[in-house]
Amino acid sequence: RQASVLMDRDFAIGHTDPRLFGAFVEHLGRCVYGGIFEPGHPTADEKGFRGDVLELVKELGPTIMRYPGGNFVSGYNWEDGVGPVEQRPVRLDLAWFSTEPNTFGTNEFMDWCRAAQVEPMLAVNLGTRGGDAARNLVEYCNHPGGTYWSDLRRQHGWEQPHGIKFWCLGNEMDGPWQMEYKTATQYGLVAKEAAKMMRWIDPTIELAACGSSGRNMPTFGRWEDEVLEHTFEHAEYISLHTYLNNYAQDTKAFLACPDLMDQFIEEVVAVADGVAARRRSNRRIMLSFDEWNVWYRTRRNRKDRVKEGWPVAPPILEEIYTMEDALAFGGACISLLNHADRVKSACLAQLVNVIAPIMTETGGPAWRQTIFHPFAQMSRLGRGKVLRTQVTSDTYEATYYDPRGAQDLYFPIPAVPYLKVAAVADEQSGGLSLFLLNRDLDQELDVSIDARGFASLAVREALELRHDDLRAANSSARPDHVAPAPLAGVRVEGGRIRATLKPASWNVISLA
Ligand code: AHR
Repeated sequence: RQASVLMDRDFAIGHTDPRLFGAFVEHLGRCVYGGIFEPGHPTADEKGFRGDVLELVKELGPTIMRYPGGNFVSGYNWEDGVGPVEQRPVRLDLAWFSTEPNTFGTNEFMDWCRAAQVEPMLAVNLGTRGGDAARNLVEYCNHPGGTYWSDLRRQHGWEQPHGIKFWCLGNEMDGPWQMEYKTATQYGLVAKEAAKMMRWIDPTIELAACGSSGRNMPTFGRWEDEVLEHTFEHAEYISLHTYLNNYAQDTKAFLACPDLMDQFIEEVVAVADGVAARRRSNRRIMLSFDEWNVWYRTRRNRKDRVKEGWPVAPPILEEIYTMEDALAFGGACISLLNHADRVKSACLAQLVNVIAPIMTETGGPAWRQTIFHPFAQMSRLGRGKVLRTQVTSDTYEATYYDPRGAQDLYFPIPAVPYLKVAAVADEQSGGLSLFLLNRDLDQELDVSIDARGFASLAVREALELRHDDLRAANSSARPDHVAPAPLAGVRVEGGRIRATLKPASWNVISLA
């Protein structure tokens, strides 16, 4: 099979914001306890941060880290997680039916962010709490001193303000599973008032209002419209979440579904700009795709989400990612890159153990899941100017199954190009990075890329991720069973790049 791509150095979609390459740490399962934080682990430092995990995080390359939830945040009293550890209360967490020991909280997270060299993104509780707790948290974190909350932070041992810039106004407030979920009107009002007070304390912060927790939500579209009606002048971002699935065991549809992510992004942009139009406003609300990943095996069955007896850090949502998942995941990476003009922030959900690129054994080793690789490559090579690509490729038809609760929902995708591609120009080095997904399960794809304006390129690096067995996965025993390998035979003739992509493969070509 053949495909061609046309691009021009001067025809750009936009620049990737560094925050596009974010991830997410929630108090959920073994993400914090036994993931990033495990005092007593052989690689842990004096703060209890696992060194092996930190090393893998640096290789993964996330730029911003969302915390502390997720569903968890909607029942979280942030005050429980600060101050002397022995005085912190142990509480039931109703999001994940576990016991929260609170031995890790906001200040420990900030120290971990410094160690990992990532920017923090903090979510406030707009479920069981509201604007008052949110404003106090901003004062505790960002105010220099001389007030009750800022002096409490100093008393707790953090003399300097944390200076947290990016704040999420709650989490998935459209979802009935959320503690104290709300209608769009209720949430819009609470979010607006919280935003006002938070920004009065620190005018330099940026705020993201909750959009829909999925394109399949019954309120999608109307929710964004109403929420932005209240928050348009108060938030810079609207969030969106997507978890790709292959419940239907239909690989072709699974690999097609990132195209619905493209559609979702464009629909949210349309609604946000519609709100702007009603106001005759030039202001543009940007998108924070603050949860995205593949997640389905450990999603529907309660036993994968809840362990009986209210345990601390139970092994839940520990999805084992396959080669097939890495392909769909790579498609999602391409969708994000190709919307760099409006998606200014995105968080892979999550970071360690819980639907994560990094797995650990408590007390044991850490390793990379299959999805680690496309993310690390995107973060390393995807910085710069995303170019418009005109793709000519055969297409196929798919119907994607995306249930909502017990309700079966089907989404037709009429024309799925076998080739999905993103191209990012590095203006400083003059280089070009190509991210290419061959969605044909049986045939190779001969790709010819006309890269106009790039006269003298040479291949710097060409890698493929593939496996004869789409069910192949990594484990502590076989940590590199699925790993990138050289992609042979990439040719550059003038401004034309030619490559042959194996069936069902994710490929990255970097040229300089
Ligand atoms: O990432 C897992 C969960 O998925 C988050 O807690 C929630 O926000 C979403 O439903």
